[in-house]
Amino acid sequence: MRTPYYQYDLGILENTLKSIKESTAQHIDWHVHYAIKANANPLLLKLIKEYGLGIDCVSGGEINVAMENGFPASSIVFAGVGKADWEIDLALKSDIACFNVESEAELDVIAERCAALGKTAHIAFRVNPDVDAHTHANITTGKAENKFGIEIPMLLPIIRKALDNPCFAFEGLHFHIGSQILDMEPFHLLCQKVNALQDLMEKEGIKLNSINVGGGLGVDYVNPELNPVPDFKQYFSIFENNLKLRKGQQLHFELGRAVVAQCGQLITKVLYVKQGTVKKFAIVDAGFTELIRPALYGAHHKIVNMTSDGPVQKYDVVGPICESSDVFGKDEMLSEVRRGDLIALMSAGAYGEAMSSQYNCRPLPPSVEK
Ligand code: LLP
Repeated sequence: MRTPYYQYDLGILENTLKSIKESTAQHIDWHVHYAIKANANPLLLKLIKEYGLGIDCVSGGEINVAMENGFPASSIVFAGVGKADWEIDLALKSDIACFNVESEAELDVIAERCAALGKTAHIAFRVNPDVDAHTHANITTGKAENKFGIEIPMLLPIIRKALDNPCFAFEGLHFHIGSQILDMEPFHLLCQKVNALQDLMEKEGIKLNSINVGGGLGVDYVNPELNPVPDFKQYFSIFENNLKLRKGQQLHFELGRAVVAQCGQLITKVLYVKQGTVKKFAIVDAGFTELIRPALYGAHHKIVNMTSDGPVQKYDVVGPICESSDVFGKDEMLSEVRRGDLIALMSAGAYGEAMSSQYNCRPLPPSVEK
């Protein structure tokens, strides 16, 4: 197999999906949509579909990939602050389940496109709940300063506008506060915000058929072998115990990372071991072109030398890209590294392959089932 490549352990994915199923089984009105942006590899999508998850999309390309992989349009929700006209048309023609509308300007364009195509749009409004997810600044989405969603003081007139237009079927409200959230408190706060907002809507005579609380559950990047499956019971119980849903109301989730992160590893080969005056470098053939999370967010993926049991030594593990940010780990304690060793970057199933690029004219990485 040409390196670097992604390797997916479908056993781990299956255990993860089973756990999601078990934790939500008693709620027929709960729907989990897989956030396909995390990884659109068909190997994973096949299993995710078998477990009955819907899909959360943020682009027309994702809608196409979801449908090509057999997900019914009726299980697709579509978010994004910048939906292009062709993407809106595609979603309308495909009869997706719901647009998560992020601004009044977008609402107006969807109305225009509905009129042009003779279609009705099911819509929810994405609310910016101003909840701090206490995660990396680049993956926080629910604060007033973020570009996402409609701020609460501006919400009511926009909902009224939608209710007055027969081309819309108004479904409810959508939230997403951020990603890689391990402390459950922000989700708890989100529930309180949703409850307060529901009370307000009820006073205004506005009925919500559905609430969508987005995604964001984090995974254990430090000890992936100990915790291959996130604690879904704890996560879902926060919503079960704190959200005051009305009778018959649907609850939607959009989990990405928690579904696929732990089943994927990026496998890379050591090209050179280079001894500097203060550092020893293990130069591998994967770079931020294959896994950009360390360079972009300062993220750390556990690094394992799969082919050596030599004495443990300290290395900076770096890629071949001509940029100083192309570093996977500094002062990593690894079994003695030699040219040709295979190194695994763990927990790379989410936002790994999906964010890979061809910078430096490098080919995209292949993938295999483990
Ligand atoms: N719903 C919406 C509207 C989203 O924007 C996202 C992720 C999700 C659901 C899924 O969130 P998750 O369950 O995966 O946390 N590339 C970054 C993460 C960006 C997340 C963007 N939105 C990373 O590698 O950490």
